[in-house]
Amino acid sequence: MRICAIKGSLNPQSRSSALIDYYLTISSKRGINVDLIDLRQHILPFHDGTKNCKTPKVMELAERIMRADGIVIATPIYVYGINANVKNFVDLTGRAWSDKAVGFLCSAGGSHSYMSILSLANSLMLDFRCLILPRFVFATRNDFITNDNSSSIEIDNPEVLQRIEELAQELPKLSVAAKQLTK
Ligand SMILES: Cc1cc2nc3c(=O)[nH]c(=O)nc-3n(C[C@H](O)[C@H](O)[C@H](O)COP(=O)(O)O)c2cc1C
Repeated sequence: MRICAIKGSLNPQSRSSALIDYYLTISSKRGINVDLIDLRQHILPFHDGTKNCKTPKVMELAERIMRADGIVIATPIYVYGINANVKNFVDLTGRAWSDKAVGFLCSAGGSHSYMSILSLANSLMLDFRCLILPRFVFATRNDFITNDNSSSIEIDNPEVLQRIEELAQELPKLSVAAKQLTK
């Protein structure tokens, strides 16, 4: 079982990054190997509609997506959608997402943007036949505490922790199903 986790925020003090860190802890306890792609560590071109943007780095990351059975994306919510960085990453790696199971961990300012992930979810379903895990995680700024001394961010809501644990339990199952469907 291969899961790829994507950190999509460019903020060094990212809350969505804290969500995925907890997901990684849970997955490691469950013995699931997760390949982490932190987009802060990769300088990627914007997709310009030509093949020029398929740089070796883009191809390397697309290969890692392709190797995965399931993908979990941690994304900030910007203007009622995913941030431009995650959108560009999906644009760049497109077909590599085909037939994957996909789960979402979202970090937003408030609860009103709760359905913001659906535009990407619909595209992944219709463009790439992804299976979308309906049990997604949506956390707001009230669900975190920031430790001023260490600048670390902690999740401060047991319900959010519980939902991440449920997602970590469900995504491998959906990934197996996605793999079976493509056989
Ligand atoms: C440009 C911008 C747009 C935002 N738009 C929304 C929004 O539409 N809805 C919302 O709930 N929060 C919005 N926020 C707040 C972020 O979602 C929130 O700060 C979140 O924690 C960011 O994730 P990160 O900490 O992982 O970067 C916005 C923040 C920025 C900087």
